[in-house]
Amino acid sequence: MTEKIRIRGKQIVNGVVPISGAKNAALPLLAAVLLSSEKILLRNVPPLEDVRTMLSLLDDMGVRFHIRADSSYASTIELQADAVNDFRASYDIVKRMRASILVLGPLLARFGECSVSLPGGCAIGVRPVDLHLKGVEALGATVSLKDGYIHARSPRGLRGTEYRFPISTVTGTENMIMAAALADGKTILENAAQEPEVVDLANCLNKMGACISGHGSGTIEIDGVANLHGVDYAVGPDRIEAGTYAIAAGITNGCVDLMGGNFRELLPCFVEKMTEAGLVFTDIGGGLRVESSGKISPIDIETAPYPGYPTDLQAQSMALLCIAAGISNIHENIWENRFMHVAELARMGANIKVASTHARIYGVEQLQGAPVYATDLRASFSLVLAALAAEGVTVLDRVYHLDRGYCKIEKKFAGCGVKIERFR
Ligand code: EPU
Repeated sequence: MTEKIRIRGKQIVNGVVPISGAKNAALPLLAAVLLSSEKILLRNVPPLEDVRTMLSLLDDMGVRFHIRADSSYASTIELQADAVNDFRASYDIVKRMRASILVLGPLLARFGECSVSLPGGCAIGVRPVDLHLKGVEALGATVSLKDGYIHARSPRGLRGTEYRFPISTVTGTENMIMAAALADGKTILENAAQEPEVVDLANCLNKMGACISGHGSGTIEIDGVANLHGVDYAVGPDRIEAGTYAIAAGITNGCVDLMGGNFRELLPCFVEKMTEAGLVFTDIGGGLRVESSGKISPIDIETAPYPGYPTDLQAQSMALLCIAAGISNIHENIWENRFMHVAELARMGANIKVASTHARIYGVEQLQGAPVYATDLRASFSLVLAALAAEGVTVLDRVYHLDRGYCKIEKKFAGCGVKIERFR
């Protein structure tokens, strides 16, 4: 039986939320361990299911590691990839977590071979990896598909290249940076993803001896080096977790102090739009205070690559707009099927019309608790947020989606005076 959580509505989120290390920064940083034979210390790693999946993939390949829990919210992991003997990411792991594709770049760069199961469809869209493959081909790798697996080879090493991404891809950019770090010569990536998680990866690689510049902009230059050495590196804060708890304060008429990062800088468009919706942001030492102004105004949002409005906050934002005083619009530009939460929010009394990748949200005065299903990570949290604001009790099924990417939500909410119960 899958775990469920029960949430009583009309609770107010008031308190301090220590923000964990970013899932989407930790995953590429863990894959980057494959680029060096020396010891790597990663700090501030969030204890999440996706991190455990990446570790089990590295374990299958022969990477040795030791985990030390520093707190409920962060671990330090010591890893060493000096005895890698398997260059394969199996279907069993890739179907659980698509970010497994992140081993492609580092394995090719250091060992000249890699086989990764092709990810199938998933809850939020088709999610192809064609741009990852075209990118490593531009670096000189040969790629073939057989038995549902991508087989990539570069027996004579990778060569620097100029490559323009036709669309911005976060893990695609990360894979190319890792592959080019050990290639022969200079690589220039155009229309590269500018997300803070890409910057985190490049900063860590530079600390390992790589020569990368321009990260954080659309053009990244990588001068290949022969080897990368060990490093002691702390994962940057999770801006999506921060944005999610900001909405928790907004939707419950509460106030949270998001600690552990410069979230105004990490979420520029989110802060601007949520201010328009009625949230009040104040800089405090070490973080950002987010307070409800007592009213929620309707807004229009279009998701876009960084620094635009993050798609990973779209579902949670929709929960808030369900009780805004008027009509809001959300246009989802990144994923073609990321409105799975709409049907569940409707079960709670929301009034939302969807046409393709556009949602029109007619604000209602009150949501009602209901039994609902989590469909993916961010959609699950949007239902938790709606449940906190609703009248009555909500039971959320398939909580494992939440555990993939949100660290200890019961404990973090308890720190804000909110009770959430988990049961089977
Ligand atoms: N795309 C292609 N071909 C490719 C790669 C991407 O067509 O080879 C398309 C995708 O289908 C999508 C768009 O490009 O329409 C952008 O996808 P991107 O590659 O940027 O997504 P990703 O790297 O697979 C990361 C995050 C996602 C987040 C997106 C967008 C990680 C591990 N995952 O995915 O996070 O939604 O960027 O910001 O970094 C989440 O955390 O809930 C999550 C889904």
